[in-house]
Amino acid sequence: MECVKVGVKEHWENVYETKSDQEVSWYQDSPITSLSVIKSLQISRHSELIDVGGGNSNLTMDLLVQGFTNLCVLDISANALARSSEKIGKDSKHVEWVVSDVLSYKPLRKFDLWHDRATFHFLTEEEDIKTYANLVKSSVVSGGYFVIATFSSSGPMKCSGLDIVRYSKDSLVERFQEGFELVDSFEEVHATPFNTKQDFIYAIFRRH
Ligand SMILES: C[S@@+](CC[C@H](N)C(=O)[O-])C[C@H]1O[C@@H](n2cnc3c(N)ncnc32)[C@H](O)[C@@H]1O
Repeated sequence: MECVKVGVKEHWENVYETKSDQEVSWYQDSPITSLSVIKSLQISRHSELIDVGGGNSNLTMDLLVQGFTNLCVLDISANALARSSEKIGKDSKHVEWVVSDVLSYKPLRKFDLWHDRATFHFLTEEEDIKTYANLVKSSVVSGGYFVIATFSSSGPMKCSGLDIVRYSKDSLVERFQEGFELVDSFEEVHATPFNTKQDFIYAIFRRH
């Protein structure tokens, strides 16, 4: 049986139905940090990439422009993916759009790069966190990358009215060390569209 939490899905469908890009704290006109991390990894343009909880991010649009050919975006909200697909226009047919709770996602292939900015930190139950960690481990090819950004130890305690879990470099390593080695990590202050600040931490892991 699928383990979709109805309340969570309703929450996110409602967010993307009622709020514009500029009205949600996580929005970036250009996801420059993620783009520069991906560039630094020097992976092939034909690599299999997934953006988990991609929402209304412009990451996939920018990666398409850079010539990446195997892009997948997963989100619990169909509204979010419809919006992103519409922004991209005709090239959106080259993207695989997956509406799913990440906790019940069963990928049919492995990925060279799994990207998650501001989705994992919404998992607050130990069982869900472990399910995610096992999923990313089984879904990334050996030598592939897992790029994650979450609120840092000094970041907000909530996002979009929901509880989150804040992470440090050490606590991310603890969660993902089984299967991955840490390549790099750094902190970043995100300026929201309404000019508040949110402290994030990025970690780049490589699959053993
Ligand atoms: C704060 S937004 C971040 C969006 C995007 N990654 C970005 O950086 O702009 C979190 C996203 O995660 C999605 N999400 C939340 N819980 C999820 C889950 N359990 N499975 C899949 N997506 C989820 C939401 O719909 C939302 O689009």
